[in-house]
Amino acid sequence: MPDYSQQIRRRRTFAIISHPDAGKTTLTEKLLLYGGAITQAGTVKGKKSSRHAVSDWMEIEKQRGISVTSSVLQFEYGDCCINILDTPGHQDFSEDTYRTLMAADSAVMVIDAAKGVEPQTRKLFKVCLLRDIPIFTFINKMDREARDPFELCEEIEEELGIGTCPINWPIGSGKSFKGVYDRKKRDILAFSATGGAKRVQATEAGLDDPHLVDMLGQELYQTLCDDVELLDGAGDDFDMELVRHGKLSPVFFGSALTNFGVEPFLEQFLQMTTPPLPRTTVEGDIDPFDPEFSAFVFKIQANMNRAHRDRLAFMRICSGKFSKGMEVLHVQQGKKIKLAQPQQMMAQERAIVDEAYAGDIIGVFDPGIFSIGDTVCAPSKKVRFSSIPTFAPEHFARVRQVDTLKRKQFVKGMDQIAQEGAIQIFHEPYSGMEEVIVGVVGTLQFDVLEYRLKNEYGVDIRMERLPYQSLRWIESEIERPDDLHLSTDTKLVQDYRDRYLLLFTSEWNVRWSLEHNKGLELAEFGMNES
Ligand code: G4P
Repeated sequence: MPDYSQQIRRRRTFAIISHPDAGKTTLTEKLLLYGGAITQAGTVKGKKSSRHAVSDWMEIEKQRGISVTSSVLQFEYGDCCINILDTPGHQDFSEDTYRTLMAADSAVMVIDAAKGVEPQTRKLFKVCLLRDIPIFTFINKMDREARDPFELCEEIEEELGIGTCPINWPIGSGKSFKGVYDRKKRDILAFSATGGAKRVQATEAGLDDPHLVDMLGQELYQTLCDDVELLDGAGDDFDMELVRHGKLSPVFFGSALTNFGVEPFLEQFLQMTTPPLPRTTVEGDIDPFDPEFSAFVFKIQANMNRAHRDRLAFMRICSGKFSKGMEVLHVQQGKKIKLAQPQQMMAQERAIVDEAYAGDIIGVFDPGIFSIGDTVCAPSKKVRFSSIPTFAPEHFARVRQVDTLKRKQFVKGMDQIAQEGAIQIFHEPYSGMEEVIVGVVGTLQFDVLEYRLKNEYGVDIRMERLPYQSLRWIESEIERPDDLHLSTDTKLVQDYRDRYLLLFTSEWNVRWSLEHNKGLELAEFGMNES
């Protein structure tokens, strides 16, 4: 049994992001297959209908507990212990993606080779860059007709502003897909369609192998030689430092469905990505090998199991070792607590964990005490991780319940969903809580809100969309905010901590308010810090 620091050293924790349908579920499944966590592909439930993110979400809902969309999966591969974090595929949930990336040490971006960076997903991929973590690109579906690989790399560079460095290079695509060329080993991994349920059998051959022209055909062979010359001459040099800082993305080509290129990707990726690195706290950096336990909450999910109406807080362990039954300090509440029912997803099952190490993610039963960004640590440690910023909502609606007798359920549902970070709630000063104004980053979150209130809390709501597009927190000390001189289409509201904010219909109105109210200071971000 490896010792404690060895356990941390072998952790690899990463998130997979993709546009719906690019192949995230399939790739995850194949990674599990190689890890021996499952023996047959098709075991991990993916979503059948990914046309629309809400239907996805409802599907996910049905499958929670067994699906790869259950937030986090752990499995072993070789000497490594891998934690994969799942992220939603739609840009409207990019804030969720951002929070998940906070818990990851690197990200794998899956791109459909026929589609490239899809317009709807730009926002999602850009969120990745905000975190400065290594980003690896897997260009998938090479067994289908694909776009020119140079063009795909260029698009990633232009759209996302990150350098690319192909680690392997495709030979043909679709019906004429012959395999990939490994730029470091300078040999070819030949493709043979296996149906994808089992590990792929690959044939290797060097670029100077005399049989290669027969294998690829003269045309593809020549294209490959030209491409390789061009890549070696002009492409970005591989620079591990740039990769570590998220400035250069190693690019792999493959086909998750047929298993092709998945294992070489996994092996090289595991070598390039890092074990857990130090994390920033208000008191300074924390070394993952520090023996004292520390973690932060990055995700809260209610009603994962309808029968038990439970709520799980997911935390990323940043240092030390967690043992079941251990007493920890919940820093924001200043209370010592025992983390109840610590769980991990092991391939397809939720299992109670006895111990977990820096780099791991555990889900703990949350009786309603945790908020996103909270720190838990060994009582003697007392650190506080930097808070996770909330994204400023861009869409607003006034929401009220249809049946006034359901007031209690309505307030509870709204509160819980807001605590999960899916929506932000505001109210008008002196108005009580009869009506609430809800702000979201993407409009699909309104649909999810409506769906969840009905299904989880039995409350029908009426929603009236409001014309506001942005908000600002009032930072300056103002005695009577309702005396502010505001244009008629600017609204004063309060958040759940009674801080005052202004909702604006345009940037022009933001400037107008600043010009007409001396001393008014506005902030774009409201930190979760308590
Ligand atoms: P997602 O999680 O990113 O949304 O994508 P998912 O893995 O569910 O894949 C979306 C569709 O693309 C699936 O087909 C899947 O089989 C297919 N796919 C994934 N990787 C590859 C690949 O490398 N090559 C090819 N040709 N197809 C691939 P589907 O018909 O929507 O679903 P299913 O009925 O096959 O499950």
